[in-house]
Amino acid sequence: MTMPRESFGSKLGFIAAASGSAVGLGNLWKFPYITWENNGGAFVLVYLAAALMLGLPIMMAEIFIGRTAKLSGAPAYKKLGGNKWSKLGYLGAAAGGIILSYYMVIAGWSIRSFFQCLNWSFTGYVQPDSKEFGDFLADSRAQILLTLAFTLVNAFIIFLGVGKGIEKATKIMMPVLVLLMLYLVGTALTMPGRDEAFSMIFSLDFKNMKPEGYLEAVGQAFFSLSLGLGAMVAYGSYMKKSDPIISSAAWVVVLDTLFALLSCVAMFTIILSVPELKEHLSGGTVGMLFITLPELFYTKMPGGLILAPLFFVLVAFAALSSTLSLGEVVTSLLIDRKGWKRSKAVMVSTTFIFTGSIFAALSLGGNQFLSKLNFENTPVLKIFFHNKTGVLSLLDHLAANWLLPVGGLGVTIFVGWFLHSDFLLDKLGLKKSTIGFKLWLWSLRVLAPAAIIILIISVALGKDFS
Ligand code: PHE
Repeated sequence: MTMPRESFGSKLGFIAAASGSAVGLGNLWKFPYITWENNGGAFVLVYLAAALMLGLPIMMAEIFIGRTAKLSGAPAYKKLGGNKWSKLGYLGAAAGGIILSYYMVIAGWSIRSFFQCLNWSFTGYVQPDSKEFGDFLADSRAQILLTLAFTLVNAFIIFLGVGKGIEKATKIMMPVLVLLMLYLVGTALTMPGRDEAFSMIFSLDFKNMKPEGYLEAVGQAFFSLSLGLGAMVAYGSYMKKSDPIISSAAWVVVLDTLFALLSCVAMFTIILSVPELKEHLSGGTVGMLFITLPELFYTKMPGGLILAPLFFVLVAFAALSSTLSLGEVVTSLLIDRKGWKRSKAVMVSTTFIFTGSIFAALSLGGNQFLSKLNFENTPVLKIFFHNKTGVLSLLDHLAANWLLPVGGLGVTIFVGWFLHSDFLLDKLGLKKSTIGFKLWLWSLRVLAPAAIIILIISVALGKDFS
């Protein structure tokens, strides 16, 4: 009765899908923003260290769980660790569903911006008035329809399966993403802000970094590398036993980090090329991506007519390749846990998550209650939701600050402390412990849990890293 498990066609297929998951709005939007807030250089170095010393080991651990169990999420933890560990899989699926429900809303904006830019490219740019984007956010119908459009495309690709859907789609999207990013950076580098941008990104100035920068780097590494919710467990479960874990994970970390850096170079150069912009940038990052950049493309950048719509293809592809993995976390749990057919699992998970998306989509002004919802004065909930307002921000805070770090901590304890090192060696095909293996275990046992526990305590004390 059981069907043979689907698998990626090759190591490259895994890398395309997994780096597609990692490269997303977190790279294009969150990373440049946090780097800017931390005044550049030193933060970038701290981030690199976090990605390498915590991100890489945890990614390897997640892939290890999936590849060894040949199952995803809760069933994988159950198989390797017994019933009580399966909670970690459910927590991950919940985090995946939550992130997906609001990520879809933001992803939907890229469709709108694409068509808006296409129109401007043909008929000429007309600067929208300052209320335009806010009105769009508060337009319930537009928000729901765009979210639905993105949701359906995502669901369709997941429905096609791991090889024919996710692998094929990401193998097309990732090279396009790389080319578009290089084109964007190449054009940006012709602008006058280039030198200042480079010195900001690459000079080490620890004095100007916020003290929280260290923990922000850890949090960002989790989000950007798609860790802590089992996305890499799911993708790892579709890997062939012969596919190597370390080099596959290393590729994903390197590609994701390069993307984050390139997007920083592009954004900073553009911003610093326009003197007036520097001062009033703190207004938030979403505005930068969807309002300021299009304007700059048309008014300040060479070749902006072509670049503007292409940029939103970049955003849409980056988002889609990430939502595929989030959707697959929930879908594969239903397949592996309930034995459902993929079509049924996709239908049920999509319906469920889209319902969540509606609440997020209406929380940007469309519905007063959802937009104003907050738990600032509610004793226990305040810890989990901080002083965020509106469903979308509440969900983002809960997922990025709590669920991913807690899930990541669980992974480090499970692989570092619970699974026996002989078992790890055996499954990795190693005869004896090597230096790399020892470093991996050391990070999983000591370094990563310590950093994550400090992060979680700071969040509980009211810090915000989302
Ligand atoms: N890594 C994605 C990004 O940077 C977001 C994501 C998080 C995707 C967790 C899957 C799982 O945008």
